[in-house]
Amino acid sequence: MMKHLIAPSMLASDLGRINEEIVMINNSEADWIHVDVMDGHFVPNITFGPNIVEAMAKFAQKPLDVHLMIEKPERYVQSYINAGASILTVHLEACTHLHSVISMIRDKGIKAGVSINPHTHVESLEDILEELDMVLIMSVNPGFGGQKFIHRTLAKLRRLREMVTERNLQILIEVDGGIGLQNAQPLLMAGANVLVAGSSIFGTPDPLDTIRKFKAIGSDSW
Ligand code: DX5
Ligand code: ZN
Repeated sequence: MMKHLIAPSMLASDLGRINEEIVMINNSEADWIHVDVMDGHFVPNITFGPNIVEAMAKFAQKPLDVHLMIEKPERYVQSYINAGASILTVHLEACTHLHSVISMIRDKGIKAGVSINPHTHVESLEDILEELDMVLIMSVNPGFGGQKFIHRTLAKLRRLREMVTERNLQILIEVDGGIGLQNAQPLLMAGANVLVAGSSIFGTPDPLDTIRKFKAIGSDSW
């Protein structure tokens, strides 16, 4: 059992004040900084290249949790590690040779995660689970912040938690999309231990206080 982790998503931050936003996270109770990388192919939006992530890393005093929503992510693993990623998560749906991509990331000495889209079964992870540091369950269709939480995610989290417990693994389970203070606790109870939140943190008048409230939810989680 561990205290759950909170990863504010930079996608929802004020990018014109990116340094100040990162300093706010540094001064908060947040655990990680979530960075959404999009390529305009895997998802219909384009965001942060390695140079931007490197600029964030200069100010960040917390691990950069880099979520690659890009096709053939193996092409950019080294660039995002050089930029300062501590955790690299790739999408199962974007990799032909997922096992080799995960090995490539871990061999370079950082943590590796696999993310699945809302329509992908958690059972698809069965043969890769033991190689992972983290699974990221998408609770919206990836591409944009501010979308509505997909309720079915709760059942997926429960099933994944069972799979992890049955195998006696120590994998982190992160959930991302449409998460706010109002629906966070059921997610933790269903099996998540890392919550990503974008608009529900940066869209509030006092993000520091919102992060504090996210951390104060429940007690211990998985
Ligand atoms: C969506 C991204 C999310 C996004 C979440 O593709 O992976 O990390 O920032 O934003 P909210 O919390 O606003 O749903
Ligand atoms: Zn994300």
